Amino acid sequence: MRKTIVAGNWKLNLGPDEGAAFAEILVQHLDEPIDCDIIVCPPYVTISAVSKVLQSSRIELGAQNAHWEEAGAFTGEVAPSMLLTIGCRWVILGHSERRQLFGETDEGVNKRLLACLSAGLSPIVCVGETLAERDGGRVQEIVLGQIDRSLAGITAEQALATTLAYEPVWAIGTGRTATPAQAEEVHAMIRQRLAQTFGEETAQQMRLQYGGSVKPDNAAELFGQENIDGGLIGGASLDAESFAAIVRAG
Ligand code: 13P
Repeated sequence: MRKTIVAGNWKLNLGPDEGAAFAEILVQHLDEPIDCDIIVCPPYVTISAVSKVLQSSRIELGAQNAHWEEAGAFTGEVAPSMLLTIGCRWVILGHSERRQLFGETDEGVNKRLLACLSAGLSPIVCVGETLAERDGGRVQEIVLGQIDRSLAGITAEQALATTLAYEPVWAIGTGRTATPAQAEEVHAMIRQRLAQTFGEETAQQMRLQYGGSVKPDNAAELFGQENIDGGLIGGASLDAESFAAIVRAG
């Protein structure tokens, strides 16, 4: 009943020309009807070029972040409404690389989320524990804490427009995927928390993605878990054949 959602996070890869050329190949690989939301998230400067290529395709566009203010003295930031004007419907927020390398906090993610929701974007909010936190038995505390703080103050209606991505930090770019059972355990825990916060009906409709070394050969088993509704893909989203295979696995 929940539509599968697969998003490619290109991270700091593919400038405008490369991105547009890659998007053309992607469109060729994904031109059959598939019941899945398919999204690519290029770097900001590449979005417009890719948007032109994707115009008549079923692949949608997202950004990798957005600021909480609409305008002003905020050097280096991009406003939610600006993303809408260049063709983005989606936006990734709170990716672990933003948290770990650029000092983003749950409170900041929450401000970005509220601003993006008010602007009419569909946010993908990332959460996930480090290896030390997992080894220390702190998965529940870390992940649920991130969810509570990042989603604070949003309504059930806004929660429905929000996708959550569970990305264990130790599985990102490492080739070390969480097992389907490990991933499902955390996804089930997340959905339970969403039910406590937003009500059972809303929680059942919200989509939860898994991210961290998803590849064509492990995607079907991961996406087949009860509470996993798709994936957030890094490395494998930069290979058209692999990304298309992952989308088809949904
Ligand atoms: P990898 O698929 O390269 O592990 O990256 C996952 C990720 O960070 C997606 O946002």
